[in-house]
Amino acid sequence: MIKNKPIYILGIESSCDDTSAAVICNGKILSNVVANQEIHTKYGGVVPELASRAHQQNIVPVIQQAIQQANIDKKDLNAIAFTRGPGLMGSLLVGTSFAKSLSLALDIPLIAVNHMQGHVLAHFIEEENQQIPPFPFICLTISGGHTQIVKITNHFNMEVLGETLDDAVGEAFDKSAKILGLPYPGGPLIDKYAQLGNPKAFKFTKPRVNDLNFSFSGLKTGILYFIQKKVKENSNFIQENLNDICASIQHTIVEILFEKLKKTVQQTGIKHIAIAGGVSANSEIRKVLKGTEEKFGWKTYIPKFEYTTDNAAMIAIVGYLKYLENNFSEESTSATARLKVSEN
Ligand code: KG4
Ligand code: ZN
Repeated sequence: MIKNKPIYILGIESSCDDTSAAVICNGKILSNVVANQEIHTKYGGVVPELASRAHQQNIVPVIQQAIQQANIDKKDLNAIAFTRGPGLMGSLLVGTSFAKSLSLALDIPLIAVNHMQGHVLAHFIEEENQQIPPFPFICLTISGGHTQIVKITNHFNMEVLGETLDDAVGEAFDKSAKILGLPYPGGPLIDKYAQLGNPKAFKFTKPRVNDLNFSFSGLKTGILYFIQKKVKENSNFIQENLNDICASIQHTIVEILFEKLKKTVQQTGIKHIAIAGGVSANSEIRKVLKGTEEKFGWKTYIPKFEYTTDNAAMIAIVGYLKYLENNFSEESTSATARLKVSEN
């Protein structure tokens, strides 16, 4: 390869309820367009049929905008990277079919990307003042669909050390928010109200789970019973205590996550710790993680906000890393609803 030759890759993400396209050039993001789907707010969660329909409506304008903002022509593209899984089948199919057609039309390689690897490898996007983690490092991937502690020994060698046995941490946030009557997705709202509340105001029982695994469904039930009991005593309980309730829920979740991270560091001896996924946007998680640098001597890696929730920049960086290894996909590659982070 000619040194410094610009390599342009288009990334396409459509695994859940965000339609996104990004252009990357040699590790640097030139554009990252995300169309959120408002429609699901009304239903309190993602409705798969509506998600795939919205992807179909959004995908062409989103890709056009990404190419335009990158200030390139589609003929400049060297490859198309797309999310192959995991995710909602109908949603994945929209991005997959579009990526395949575009790679055929432009006669350039196709690169299938594992969405979970995308969350982790977003840390390799070149940004000013952003350090890239050295191997091996640990990544706590926390999103609406996943909660995993992953050991990364090289770009495409990832091992799950622990994961949730039931709900994902994002679900714990969103379901708790729903109990409080907050709209979907409630995670960012809990974060917002928690900033004004007392994290020790209410105590919730933490689950007892062995190893490095997690469980969040018991916590959700505990919160539900607590709120039901309190509302029976005082129908204005939620309104009068919203900040304290949110702060206490968030505090409990953050404690659960960090107990496992501490255990991971003890077991592996690895002190380079990254966070990824939508829930890594949470201000308390960011603050506590940063604090471990001084407290325990960890070196931490916190992604930029725009690379936490689902986005195509993270798909584009994986595309670029695979391009450098000539790791291309066949036209016959299919979308996969279930895909482990260790599967390429
Ligand atoms: O990674 P993501 O966009 O989608 C999945 O792949 O699941 O994550 C979405 C999740 C939602 O559950 C949302 O409530 C949560 O990330 N989230 C947050 C915050 N921002 C997004 N949870 C807590 N605090 C936040 N600030
Ligand atoms: Zn995600």
